[in-house]
Amino acid sequence: MKKAIYPGTFDPLTYGHIDILQRSLKIFDKITILLAKNTQKKTFFNLEERRSQIEDVLKEYQLDDRVDIDSFNGLLVDYCQQKEVQVIIRGLRPLVDFEYEFEMAMTNRGLNENVETVFIITDQKYFYLRSTLIKDILRLGGNVIDSVPQRICEDLIKKIQVNNE
Ligand code: COA
Repeated sequence: MKKAIYPGTFDPLTYGHIDILQRSLKIFDKITILLAKNTQKKTFFNLEERRSQIEDVLKEYQLDDRVDIDSFNGLLVDYCQQKEVQVIIRGLRPLVDFEYEFEMAMTNRGLNENVETVFIITDQKYFYLRSTLIKDILRLGGNVIDSVPQRICEDLIKKIQVNNE
């Protein structure tokens, strides 16, 4: 059984993430989406909201038999050790991601030699997608239905409205 984790903030999960997941499932039998903590980011959706959104999306895409969700506040490599997983999946978009991802992969390797990072190239439709942009577009009255699943789009609109009241 080939297992991997796909960590990130997923604030929120986008079609770009789903694309990475579907491509990764061609290589791995089981994947855990790991809601991990990026200490540089304050999230828009709390942990439970993000978990519930991802659960719905996995069901909708019928991926829930091979993909599960977990969360962790510590180091990624410690999670890998605890769960006996050796592979971290990361999506790679041109230009923007390389240096950051390279640094993160090398840091993780420095912390634990046994954990490998596998990079999956994002579909070009999603090269310039990122969660922050989606939130900005919505706040300014734009449409993001091509970037996130319906349920997540609705959650974003609701939360932006509440925050504006
Ligand atoms: N298509 C489109 N957009 C994508 C994408 C794809 N395939 N993959 C990622 N993105 C976007 C995300 O939407 C996100 O946008 P945002 O910055 O506007 O929020 C951005 O790219 C990066 O997001 P993500 O993939 O979720 O990564 P992250 O930088 O938020 O996550 C962690 C980093 C959580 C994995 C990292 O901080 C970590 O490992 N934390 C645990 C602690 C640890 O071990 N630290 C040491 C690691 S070196």
